[in-house]
Amino acid sequence: MPELSNRIALVTGASRGLGRATALRLAEEGARVIVHYSASRDAADAVVGDIRAKGGQAEAIGADLAAPDGAHRLAEAVRALGIERLDVLVNNAGIAEMAPIAEQTIESFDRHFAVNVRAPFFLVQQLLPILGEGSSVILLSSVVARAAFDGSAIYSATKGAVEVLTRNLAKELGPRGIRVNAIAPGAIDTDMAQVFLGSEEGRAFIKGLQALQRIGQPDDIADPVVFLASDRSRWIDGRSIEVSGGANL
Ligand SMILES: NC(=O)c1ccc[n+]([C@@H]2O[C@H](COP(=O)([O-])OP(=O)(O)OC[C@H]3O[C@@H](n4cnc5c(N)ncnc54)[C@H](OP(=O)(O)O)[C@@H]3O)[C@@H](O)[C@H]2O)c1
Repeated sequence: MPELSNRIALVTGASRGLGRATALRLAEEGARVIVHYSASRDAADAVVGDIRAKGGQAEAIGADLAAPDGAHRLAEAVRALGIERLDVLVNNAGIAEMAPIAEQTIESFDRHFAVNVRAPFFLVQQLLPILGEGSSVILLSSVVARAAFDGSAIYSATKGAVEVLTRNLAKELGPRGIRVNAIAPGAIDTDMAQVFLGSEEGRAFIKGLQALQRIGQPDDIADPVVFLASDRSRWIDGRSIEVSGGANL
């Protein structure tokens, strides 16, 4: 019997990158997966199609998490599916625009915090009625929450906030049996990381930071997310686990 049979999971930003890989892995483990997207509707439909083609259950829901009511609308749409209990919530959607401090704008600052911090917080709040004993909430942090990189001040600050949120949500929701953890990836080969991984020089820089000498792939993150989603991680709570091939040791 697959490990997550009869479980329902919502993965934000599941149209591409780490969210897509996570949605596919959760479905392989038997979960019914709600594939959230914002701009990439066709890509999200393709993820749903892949899951269904393998006999799994999935549906796509769109919502712009940069909008003030984005998390509220997404939660409403999830509940409109008739879902009465959500077992797994992966707060994965995120944005990262690297630029020197002098070139940063208030608009970019606010957008990063809206998508990367505000949306996960209010999504948990709005889904609380259907989260309960045994539910697992997972947030996506980053190695940049712990080590400084040029051009990353705003993005890194959002991931620092994600780590603080993780601990506080875990403390408050633990008595209800809801676990909250984060995964902190190093650079992984997705659209987001092309600013580093799009050039040979960048790939060499990233490998130089890591003990393991290859470029991380989306499944390297999806597998630990599935672990945190499953009961095998039942005694892990309020923690951020770095998954980076041994970066910055
Ligand atoms: N890749 C890395 O190296 C790395 C390292 C550390 C942490 N992370 C974190 O891992 C998570 C996923 O990153 P990724 O590399 O998979 O990124 P990605 O390939 O750029 O994909 C980003 C995802 O977020 C969604 N998204 C973006 N803006 C949105 C908005 N306004 N509303 C709703 N959804 C939105 C996108 O959906 P649409 O395309 O449908 O709009 C997409 O599915 C992020 O939280 C990121 O910070 C990534």
